[in-house]
Amino acid sequence: MSARHLAKDQPASFAFSKEGESQAKYWIAKYPKDKQRSAVIPLLWIAQKDNDGWVSEPAMRVIGDRLGMAYIRVLEVATFYTMFKLEPVGEHLIQVCGTTPCMLRGSGDLIKVCKSKIGAKNTVSADGKFTWEEVECLGACVNAPMVQISNASGDAYYEDLDAASMEKLLDDLAAGRKVKLGPQNSRKSSEPLGGALTLSDKSLFDGSRAKKIKIPNAPKGAAKAKAAKPTPKKTTLIADGKKAVAKAPAAKTVAKPVPAAKTSKPKLLKAARKGVADDLTRISGVGPKIEGVLHKLGVFHFDQIAVWKKAEVDWVDEQLKFKGRIGREKWIAQAKKLAKEAGK
Ligand code: FES
Repeated sequence: MSARHLAKDQPASFAFSKEGESQAKYWIAKYPKDKQRSAVIPLLWIAQKDNDGWVSEPAMRVIGDRLGMAYIRVLEVATFYTMFKLEPVGEHLIQVCGTTPCMLRGSGDLIKVCKSKIGAKNTVSADGKFTWEEVECLGACVNAPMVQISNASGDAYYEDLDAASMEKLLDDLAAGRKVKLGPQNSRKSSEPLGGALTLSDKSLFDGSRAKKIKIPNAPKGAAKAKAAKPTPKKTTLIADGKKAVAKAPAAKTVAKPVPAAKTSKPKLLKAARKGVADDLTRISGVGPKIEGVLHKLGVFHFDQIAVWKKAEVDWVDEQLKFKGRIGREKWIAQAKKLAKEAGK
């Protein structure tokens, strides 16, 4: 393994962005109190996204303090995993897969394009737009050769490349033009070029080819029993000697559909009291996204959740399309405890 060093020039400090802070809290809350260092990898990843694609030394200290870890332990993790960049990178980090399938399909040509358009690997291009590096298999060999590009919009795969499409991709990114994700030829997903070649005959799966078959070891009489003759209508002699047809048994009563359970809207607020909401992500099962939805509904505090009755839980469940998750994750018990801790 190659040695990885920290950048010589480091910023004076680091702080998570508002969104990064909320994500960090979410990850920390996932682990028991004395096991929160388990969140070190997610926190390093969030710090990297919050710091233009690389992890600074002050960021590692902040993470060490947040998780109660010695700084050296955070440094060990950050320097071990090559997904953490320890020096500044360009606006777009290009990771070219150089493993055998991509190599056999022409990743060498992509590397040549990177060298000529960006410069040496692991350096930032003169305009600050690009850094490129060679990486091991990214798991998209079926669309080889491919690259992963990370930038402010996220991390995405660009596949089925050749020298010309790679050049175009870099030119489009440099010019801020919209680029197509996935295969860069006319291929759809990982289908063969020109479309799917198998299962194109509908009769293979629409049931029209199905034939009745005789099961060789079926128990005797099973088929007969199935095809039982219709019961003849019973006749009875009545007093005047005429035959009367017995009344057919009354049709079975069709069960009425069960009415949907009654739900009831819980007490909702227009805004958090005194403008400060409780950190609902402390409830196990509530992440930043769900917390945002709860705020939109008018739920900002633990004590609001703590008093929900069954019908109110069902109402919130319906809004969140949760199918009983609130009960399974015991939100109410958690909220009661958290509200008590907060002295409400
Ligand atoms: S070899 Fe390149 S993605 Fe697997």
